[in-house]
Amino acid sequence: MLSIRSWHRSDLPYLLEMSAQLEWSVTPESDRARSSSEVVARRAQTSVLELLQAPSGTAFIAESEGRPVGYILAGPQCNERTGEWHGYMAEIYVTPQFRRKKVGKALVETAEAYFRRLGLRKVRTWVHAHNPLGSAASTEYGQRVHTVLLAKRL
Ligand SMILES: CC(C)(COP(=O)(O)OP(=O)(O)OC[C@H]1O[C@@H](n2cnc3c(N)ncnc32)[C@H](O)[C@@H]1OP(=O)(O)O)[C@@H](O)C(=O)NCCC(=O)NCCS
Repeated sequence: MLSIRSWHRSDLPYLLEMSAQLEWSVTPESDRARSSSEVVARRAQTSVLELLQAPSGTAFIAESEGRPVGYILAGPQCNERTGEWHGYMAEIYVTPQFRRKKVGKALVETAEAYFRRLGLRKVRTWVHAHNPLGSAASTEYGQRVHTVLLAKRL
């Protein structure tokens, strides 16, 4: 049976390991060629720790039979233009065997309920353009494209 709970310190190794894997899996080929899985892992893990140490930064863990099968990282973030606060969903991950069973949806709904309790009324997330899973799921969860980051090799 699936359940969703708040993270605790014993989840940290799982979160750090999965975050490193997730970030490498969504790193574009062109960036991989000029980086390494170790560098990407270090940066990903630093971001996880920063989010979890920030005020109201948290993670929710999806569990099946006592084992983690997914997580979402969530915390308040300030809009750089308006100064208003919104909820930021930094990462979402579901173990491949558990995908397409609405585990991602349950994690997002848990994070959204958390943000509402904090008084926040908007959420944001980043999805790489070449990550069709992330885009498809975010669209299904009701999010719409807000900003497009463009890049060009010089
Ligand atoms: C993105 C992710 C978290 C979705 O988790 P999930 O539990 O499979 O998602 P859900 O079951 O809630 O699916 C929600 C919807 O997303 C879309 N979707 C998810 N996987 C899809 C796929 N492989 N192809 C097309 N659409 C997909 C569908 O619209 C789906 O609804 P449906 O099953 O009713 O058609 C999961 O695929 C994952 O961990 N991906 C790798 C990590 C990642 O890319 N994270 C996002 C960036 S941080």
